[in-house]
Amino acid sequence: MAIVGAGPAGLLLGQLLAREGIDTVILEARSREHVEGRIRAGVLEQGTIDVLREAGVGERMDREGLVHGGIYLCFDGARHHIPMSELTGGRAVMIYGQTEVVKDLVAARLAMDAPLRFECAEVSLDGLNRDEPVLRYTYQGEPHELTCDLVAGCDGFHGVCRTCIPDDVLGVWQRDYPFAWLGILAQVAPSTDELIYAHSERGFALHSMRSPTISRLYIQVGTEEKIGDWPDERIWDELHARLASEDWELTEGPVLEKSITPMRSFVAEPMRFRSLLLAGDAAHIVPPTGAKGLNLAVADVTVLARALVDRLQSGSETGLREYSDRCLGRVWRAQHFSWWMTTMLHTDPDGDAYGLALQRSQLEYVASSRAAATSLAENYVGLPLERTGASHAGGPWLS
Ligand code: APR
Ligand code: PHB
Repeated sequence: MAIVGAGPAGLLLGQLLAREGIDTVILEARSREHVEGRIRAGVLEQGTIDVLREAGVGERMDREGLVHGGIYLCFDGARHHIPMSELTGGRAVMIYGQTEVVKDLVAARLAMDAPLRFECAEVSLDGLNRDEPVLRYTYQGEPHELTCDLVAGCDGFHGVCRTCIPDDVLGVWQRDYPFAWLGILAQVAPSTDELIYAHSERGFALHSMRSPTISRLYIQVGTEEKIGDWPDERIWDELHARLASEDWELTEGPVLEKSITPMRSFVAEPMRFRSLLLAGDAAHIVPPTGAKGLNLAVADVTVLARALVDRLQSGSETGLREYSDRCLGRVWRAQHFSWWMTTMLHTDPDGDAYGLALQRSQLEYVASSRAAATSLAENYVGLPLERTGASHAGGPWLS
């Protein structure tokens, strides 16, 4: 089995399979430094925490991660607490950077001496239609050819694997948003105990964190804006204005990193075509407002690893046949939740006063109704890995 891509999806799949005695080769286009240095999101759902522990890579996460049982919604200058754990029977999230998850997975892979090839060039996939997949790539200047049984396409949104599925097979659903996120990593203790999601007429802002000494903050910006237009002082001014609430101060600190990320919703289905199985960002993208990207990738590869182990142990193809449907129920729930959080909290540059009034009404409802807050909470902490009930396509989420 070959895995294309050493992001969280590819690395975790390799780890889950290795623990079941299944050998894999992971091919990655970028360098180890690049893969381990990318700053991404940092909220792990309860189910993700459980899987990382089961995979034997939860030790540092449990030591350094911050368990959060709630979030704040901030609008009209006031902060409202959403007590997620209380509303979901004790479920919580862990604040632990995706960058750290990736470092832990790379370390585990290298410790077991399993093949992980960084800086592979000209990766291409051929032979899918003949059910004889062949991966061709250049590694350390030498051309290589890998004939495999199955290929896991974990190569992210811009990868090659999805493009190998014929157009008449692959359905695509997508939406681009008329705004982006400017994110900073700052060397300063977080000014809050839990994440603050803020809506204001100036645009969305988020106060997150990475550790007791590192804060992560975001502001909504236009899609055409350049990082050069945003000196640190301008970013902090905007954060102060958007996050403002009674009796609360935002503390500034040195900016360690800053970047702009576009916002997109995207789903490609089916997630399986013959011997190619797509997982993570290769198959779907969500805007980061719901913190679902990494969690969806983890859920996909957990379902996939179980299907592959089943096939090896009992010869059953059922898990692989149902892989796409099993993942897509959850994927679409996360798509809706991420879209819902995004549209509730951001300022639409093309919007009108009516739209703004609807947003405010929605926020007031979520902040004041236990039923509405519970809906946000159960989606945020994450729904169970697979639906319960007789049919995967139609069964209920919760038993
Ligand atoms: N060959 C080999 N590797 C490739 C190729 C290729 N042709 N194209 C891309 N890659 C690699 C990328 O360099 C990257 O390391 O595939 C990896 C994909 O990793 P991610 O983009 O991190 O995607 P995934 O593993 O699905 O992780 C889920 O959750 O928080 C979100 O978007 C965020 O990355 C995150 C994602
Ligand atoms: C982050 O800490 O990077 C983060 C947190 C919550 C989000 C998105 C990103 O919704």
